[in-house]
Amino acid sequence: VKLYADGAVIEEMVDAYERGTIKGFTTNPSLMKKAGITEYETFAKQAINKIPDMPISFEVFSDDFEIMEKEAEKIASWGENVYVKIPISNSIGESSLPLIQSLSEKGISLNVTAILTMEQVRETVAAFAEGTNNIVSVFAGRIADSGIDPIPLMKEAAQVCKQKKGTELLWASSRELLNIFQAEECECDIITCTQEILNKLPNVGKSLEQISLETVQMFSKDSKELG
Ligand code: E4P
Repeated sequence: VKLYADGAVIEEMVDAYERGTIKGFTTNPSLMKKAGITEYETFAKQAINKIPDMPISFEVFSDDFEIMEKEAEKIASWGENVYVKIPISNSIGESSLPLIQSLSEKGISLNVTAILTMEQVRETVAAFAEGTNNIVSVFAGRIADSGIDPIPLMKEAAQVCKQKKGTELLWASSRELLNIFQAEECECDIITCTQEILNKLPNVGKSLEQISLETVQMFSKDSKELG
């Protein structure tokens, strides 16, 4: 499974890019808000300038399909490596599938986002034009947040995505480092993780005895600081 970084802090993105473990990047309006971004286009162009040769996804901002189409065309023009993120519906639940189909026919690489059901996966994959490269972002973490195990759905989604050349399944809304191994087991092509999860990568391969010791050392250090 390819590891992507999910975030909008430019320094973290560049650092991840230079380190070499990360193979692509995802962003979304909520992550940008959290990072304090006010100038979307300036941020995006700065990111593309620093990361010119790895897939990077930027989401449309509008809730209106006609405006979304124009935004998508503009975002796509920013770079060869750009995927345009289109939510599976607008905020009143109207389907984005006609827009997805139209943009895909124009050859724009899409990352369809906020997908949580198999029906959405199937319809999205069917809407992609032949010969285009696209990402299907299934929010496994949000499925898990509702008390449902996302693994059976992710396995089925992987099989559906394999049937359309150029389509990659992305495990989105990761919640813990274990998700990387689960995404691999489900045959996902990509998993995107926040910096908080990526920070835990050094734990991989450590013995549990070592992690136990480090935990006690943390308690001990914090106890001393308490006085
Ligand atoms: C990635 O592309 C998604 O936008 C992101 O993983 C969503 O994460 P969340 O469900 O934690 O908001």
